[in-house]
Amino acid sequence: MDNRPFTFDIALPGGIPSTYSNHITRRLSSMRGQYADEETYAALLAGGDALLYEVYEEQVPEKAGELLHGISIVHPGKVGDEYFMTKGHFHAEIATAEVYYCLAGQGVMVMETPEGVWAVEELRAGKVLYVPPRWAHRSVNTGSEADLVTFFVYPAHAGHDYGSIEKQGFRKLIVEQGGRPAIVDNPRWLPPEQR
Ligand code: F6R
Ligand code: ZN
Repeated sequence: MDNRPFTFDIALPGGIPSTYSNHITRRLSSMRGQYADEETYAALLAGGDALLYEVYEEQVPEKAGELLHGISIVHPGKVGDEYFMTKGHFHAEIATAEVYYCLAGQGVMVMETPEGVWAVEELRAGKVLYVPPRWAHRSVNTGSEADLVTFFVYPAHAGHDYGSIEKQGFRKLIVEQGGRPAIVDNPRWLPPEQR
């Protein structure tokens, strides 16, 4: 690929990029062990492998100095009372940050540090979220009908570390309680010194 400047259009509110070089899709089957209600997860999966989220990314060289960017779309839905969400990750180069800009929908970003400090921030159209270096991040669609659409940009050499999150998930889960999203403790989560 050459390194000339390039542009692309994203239809507002919250459309799909008009051009993109990489389209990643994640289905229910790739989220095994991530939802607290394992019975409902298994029952849903038996009925079909639903598409949970998609990422459209513009490819650039994955090296320091470059910026990877694209659109993440989390579809609406729940597994039991837990909303559809991304797998979530630390960056492999942990000291790299990320900026998210919410284009459409309703949701939250669940975040935590390796020490177990946690944060949950609202995402709605127009909201910019800065994820500082060292914070793992997962987007959650808390809307009942609409996609949660965000634009993201991060250092191209950051890489992804999914392993730590796959083991026990995030410290906090986002569930529907009384028709509204609520933050609850993840019963599987252990503090770093007890792992
Ligand atoms: C990149 C980033 C987003 C996510 C996307 C899907 O560093 O944070 O592009 O990759 O929202 O989430 P994951 O990668 O956790 O499946
Ligand atoms: Zn990231």
